[in-house]
Amino acid sequence: MPSLGVNIDHVATVRQARRTIEPDPVWAAVLAELGGADGITLHLREDRRHIQDRDVRVMKETVQVKINLEMAATDEMTNIALEVQPGQVSLVPEKREEVTTEGGLDVIGNRDRVKACAERLTAGGVEVSLFIDPDERQIDAAKELAVSAVELHTGRYADAEDEKTREREFLTLVKAGEHAVRQGLVLHMGHGLTYRNVSRIADIPDLCELNIGHSIVARAVMVGFTQAVREMKALVAR
Ligand code: PXP
Repeated sequence: MPSLGVNIDHVATVRQARRTIEPDPVWAAVLAELGGADGITLHLREDRRHIQDRDVRVMKETVQVKINLEMAATDEMTNIALEVQPGQVSLVPEKREEVTTEGGLDVIGNRDRVKACAERLTAGGVEVSLFIDPDERQIDAAKELAVSAVELHTGRYADAEDEKTREREFLTLVKAGEHAVRQGLVLHMGHGLTYRNVSRIADIPDLCELNIGHSIVARAVMVGFTQAVREMKALVAR
């Protein structure tokens, strides 16, 4: 059974919509832990659109399970990670104009930069995972670097518009996963997974970690909404 890393970025997205103090992603991390999360994943983006530097630092002090810090392969982020010491860093591609991480990291095209960051992080005691597309060439390139794991991007499986495409993308993930494990890499997967499409992925043999965010935050809003209104109504009606 893979471990579940809960990505709490979008709790911060709601907070940043008003640049206020709530909802606090640190509270969400604590609640996720109570719910059984094996890890907390957060993405400190260059533009700080959701998670803030303070969140990373406070989470490091409070969260007891593994912290997986997603970040771009830059010197600025590497310095932060080395100072904060999360259990794991996931290097992801980052474009300012994207809504979310759209594709996997091009390890082949950015080899020197990724290598330099991975080496600094590994030497500093931080495990490194590379978020890549389920592509054997990218896996082979990852294998050459100082990384312990790869996270295969499940977006094309999750976004498939028909069963045939979904099946094809599923088999691509299975094959790429087998290849990664044969190369001695720890296998993670994530992106776009929901309550409807996660089960088949979770059953993939040798899968060690899943990272899921948007769907969990979306459901949290819905399952908590009635209670939140009830509490406000009680105050208004008093
Ligand atoms: N894994 C990585 C590397 C990601 O960048 C993200 C999104 O931040 C996720 C997993 C989680 O994706 P989702 O929010 O679609 O569940």
